[in-house]
Amino acid sequence: MNIEVIILAAGKGSRMKSDLPKVLHELSGKSLAQHVVDTCQTLGAKNSHIIVGHGAEQVKQTLTSNKMNLNFIHQKEQLGTGHAVKMANDDLADDCTTLILYGDVPLIHHDTLSQLVEFQQENRNGITMISCLLENPTGYGRIIRNKNNEVIGIVEQKDATEEQLKINEINTGILCCNSTNLKKWVNQLNNNNAQGEYYLTDIIAMAKSEGGSVIAVQPENLYEVEGINTLSQLAKLERIWQLSLAEELMANGVIIKDPARFDLRGYITCENDVVIDINCIIEGTVIIKRGAKIGPNVFLKNCKIGENTEIKANSVIEDAEVKNDCKVGPFARLRPGAILEDEAQVGNFVEIKKSILGKGSKASHLAYLGDSEIGSNVNVGAGVITCNYDGANKYKTIIEDGAFIGSDSQLVAPVTIGKNVTVAAGTTVTKDVADGMLCISRSKQKEIAGWKRPVKNKKAE
Ligand code: UD1
Ligand code: CA
Repeated sequence: MNIEVIILAAGKGSRMKSDLPKVLHELSGKSLAQHVVDTCQTLGAKNSHIIVGHGAEQVKQTLTSNKMNLNFIHQKEQLGTGHAVKMANDDLADDCTTLILYGDVPLIHHDTLSQLVEFQQENRNGITMISCLLENPTGYGRIIRNKNNEVIGIVEQKDATEEQLKINEINTGILCCNSTNLKKWVNQLNNNNAQGEYYLTDIIAMAKSEGGSVIAVQPENLYEVEGINTLSQLAKLERIWQLSLAEELMANGVIIKDPARFDLRGYITCENDVVIDINCIIEGTVIIKRGAKIGPNVFLKNCKIGENTEIKANSVIEDAEVKNDCKVGPFARLRPGAILEDEAQVGNFVEIKKSILGKGSKASHLAYLGDSEIGSNVNVGAGVITCNYDGANKYKTIIEDGAFIGSDSQLVAPVTIGKNVTVAAGTTVTKDVADGMLCISRSKQKEIAGWKRPVKNKKAE
């Protein structure tokens, strides 16, 4: 049966004390609601109805999906969870399996939801929901069971009796049922309760009274059903999630020096014996091959790091590729389009953009290499700059195999330095240099005797 999803995301989230709509706050580099959307895609849901209210436009513009249709429905006034779900009545297909999720409960697992859906398909007339046991259930709706241990209803904290408040099985809010039933039930809701809201939870008792059964399943991890109301909860959930990402990597042979100081804000693929030191931030899609070592405080975004390559402390690598047996950093910056061939070395305060550094070539200190093609076994001295920009356009520098570029030289592009050329220190190269030449452009050294250094003017008394 088709799956359609309703995601509630209209609430203001006033306890976040933020202008950003709550569901757009980020966890692990992705908005809370996008986590939910992405998980729904993995379930094969084709349609999702997202109930938006506060910051609706911004939420609409931010959420994306390539496999699922996102249908945004505006809930003008937030009259309760049941009212929110009712907003989808006109758009929700008949007789499909409907999952109700929350834009501020980001970490619900694919496996938990697919189990929920599976149970629902055997329980067509009833409801399948996720509950859990909490030591401190304060604030949550409590699950009411009869003598046969069947779920017969949910009572909200504010409507509960003393006796009911002692129940520690709580409603996570996540549930699944047939869409035709759901539409009928939400039409029957009223707001005769302590909060004057239309409670979605009232459909549980409706299903039961019609003879449907209510099945409650528990998630494997409590964090899956945790909702975000404050920035402090967001930070706590972030750490829990990062720890679980680190655990998964460690289980696959990645050495993480301190899982409490690990931050993955995208996707990473690592081979065995990769070492990741503390305080690294990983964004986008990153691939790290066997035996590579990532030093402390390294930032990696959309890049590939080759076998046995070492990225030393405080380096920043973005949209770049470093092949095998390279050494990078400390304090190196590889910008978009930087490619380091095998055994290349880049040292401190070297910036490389849209350039290939050939096999075994080195730029060990303080250089800028932009829009360049550098062959193999080239030595780029300290302070070398490819002058790629004339203020209007960018030009290319080509340095062929075996060249030696002396310290503090400028290579004014477009320019080609031939094979095995030696550029003397301090040279400004403005024309192509043929293979094997020594290129030197600095003026002869002069020594002037009797030079007096300037002295400070005397202050007027
Ligand atoms: C709800 C459940 C409660 C459960 C708890 C779990 C009801 C009546 N109660 O309570 O049993 O233990 O969640 O966290 O369902 N929302 C809308 N539009 C509305 C109202 C809410 O989009 O009109 C959204 C909110 O943005 C939020 C979610 O629905 O993301 C839950 O609403 P909230 O008011 O926080 O529900 P609770 O009172 O916590
Ligand atoms: Ca409420």
